[in-house]
Amino acid sequence: MKFLKKIGISLLAVTSITVLYADAQNCPGIESPDGRQALLKDIPPGPTIYAIPDNCKLTDPKFVQKKAEEGRKLYLSTKIANCVACHCAPNATGCGDVGPDLTGYMNTLFKAEYIGGQKKDIQWLFQRVADFRVQIPPEFKDNPYFNTMTVNLTTGALTYDQVCAITAYLMTLK
Ligand code: HEC
Repeated sequence: MKFLKKIGISLLAVTSITVLYADAQNCPGIESPDGRQALLKDIPPGPTIYAIPDNCKLTDPKFVQKKAEEGRKLYLSTKIANCVACHCAPNATGCGDVGPDLTGYMNTLFKAEYIGGQKKDIQWLFQRVADFRVQIPPEFKDNPYFNTMTVNLTTGALTYDQVCAITAYLMTLK
């Protein structure tokens, strides 16, 4: 009986060691480059100020007109920018109302001051689409309404060129 018990314990020990060894092989741990990348990806990048790139000529009405079509598609696309999830716009079907309706935006809301007395201009609008967080004064940091919009450039959800196209589109909403 004692002998059988001993064999049993030895078998158990051997199995556990084998399992542990196999696990160690499968799980490279956080020391590996892959594990490190995965951890870094979970840290959200901080609010970032952006300048309009030179090739994004938003002061040229012809450029704006041409680029706007690309922006319109992105704005309405539920797979890419998905602005329609929260903002209505001309010809948007099934748009959400989490944020203001941007139909006629340039003649309406764009003319109004933003919180903290901020004046809106094209740079402000580009920044809005790229990373709105820098526009939120400290006293509004905990207000959900002013903190629900998507951050697009800092997160890599959109490229500079796409942010440029969407800004151009917003500029045509008159
Ligand atoms: C998850 C919801 C959500 C999504 C998605 C979203 N927004 Fe917004 N947006 C809001 C809310 C809420 C506000 C109002 C809060 C504020 O003014 O700060 C807002 C405000 C704005 C304003 C500023 C209006 C003003 O005061 O002048 C603009 C412009 C805008 N959004 C454009 C966009 C564009 C373009 C996209 C797509 C790239 C987008 N939003 C995606 C929620 C959203």
